[in-house]
Amino acid sequence: MSIDLHHAVAVVTGAGSGIGRAAAHAFARRGARVVVTDLIGERARTVADELGPRGVAAACDVTSVDDLRAVRGLALDHFGRVDLVMNNAGVLAVGPAEDIPLEAWQRVVDVNLLGVVRSNLVFLPGLLEQGSGHVVNTASTAGLLPYGFDRLPYTATKHAIVGLSEALALYLRPRGIGVSCLCPAGVATNIVEQIAFYGKPAPPRGPAFPVLDAESVGELVADGVLRDRFLILTAPQAADELREHGADIDAYLSRLTKDTP
Ligand SMILES: NC(=O)c1ccc[n+]([C@@H]2O[C@H](COP(=O)([O-])OP(=O)(O)OC[C@H]3O[C@@H](n4cnc5c(N)ncnc54)[C@H](O)[C@@H]3O)[C@@H](O)[C@H]2O)c1
Repeated sequence: MSIDLHHAVAVVTGAGSGIGRAAAHAFARRGARVVVTDLIGERARTVADELGPRGVAAACDVTSVDDLRAVRGLALDHFGRVDLVMNNAGVLAVGPAEDIPLEAWQRVVDVNLLGVVRSNLVFLPGLLEQGSGHVVNTASTAGLLPYGFDRLPYTATKHAIVGLSEALALYLRPRGIGVSCLCPAGVATNIVEQIAFYGKPAPPRGPAFPVLDAESVGELVADGVLRDRFLILTAPQAADELREHGADIDAYLSRLTKDTP
């Protein structure tokens, strides 16, 4: 069921920077043509220019279903098809649970979770009709493990993306469409630029993972798609943590909170 990236047309959201940009490059290096989209149109154009004739750019806010429909139209007009959709745009709100306002929750849910939902509404009908393709949803290790206690909207949406992706795999795989869920640990990108901070910062608690460069993560994503892997992790330590968490959630949480004053 693995897709032939050499002949594929990919759409990547939030591809003007960081992981999305790196994935767009990694897909293009394997022969794919890429619709590079970002909230900031200028960023998308820069990345599309880097890809040369394999790239085309669109400004696209994933909170707008019309923007996503326009991206699909552009992909069909320019490259004739869509095979791979990477739902990657994501934002963060950081602070104690009691200080993050409802509006910040709404923003993070609207971008991180409903952005994926809107993309499914726009792109899945075409993928289902052709009976082939692949969807990559960018979640986070914070969507698998409980360490993101100081960024609850992020943690909640990333958990939702993991669950949504796993369930989607059950639905789409028998219909010829692959699903991957990228769960990066730390990656050096521009994500800090768009963090909204509230209240007093809290000291970190839980596992600390090594920070990768975005290019390495782009390679892991492209290889994961080619191998039709569901879970794409960027830190092997995350797999160990997941095993420990899965074996006994109570014991895992006790370990993480044992130093609580
Ligand atoms: N950097 C990390 O350590 C890390 C770890 C785990 C998961 N992630 C996830 O990876 C994804 C990409 O993040 P990154 O680290 O590359 O960050 P980044 O800020 O470098 O890139 C994100 C891009 O998304 C764009 N964007 C923001 N809001 C958007 C919207 N509404 N519509 C379309 N585009 C929008 C931004 O303009 C930016 O270019 C996010 O979903 C993030 O949660 C990142």
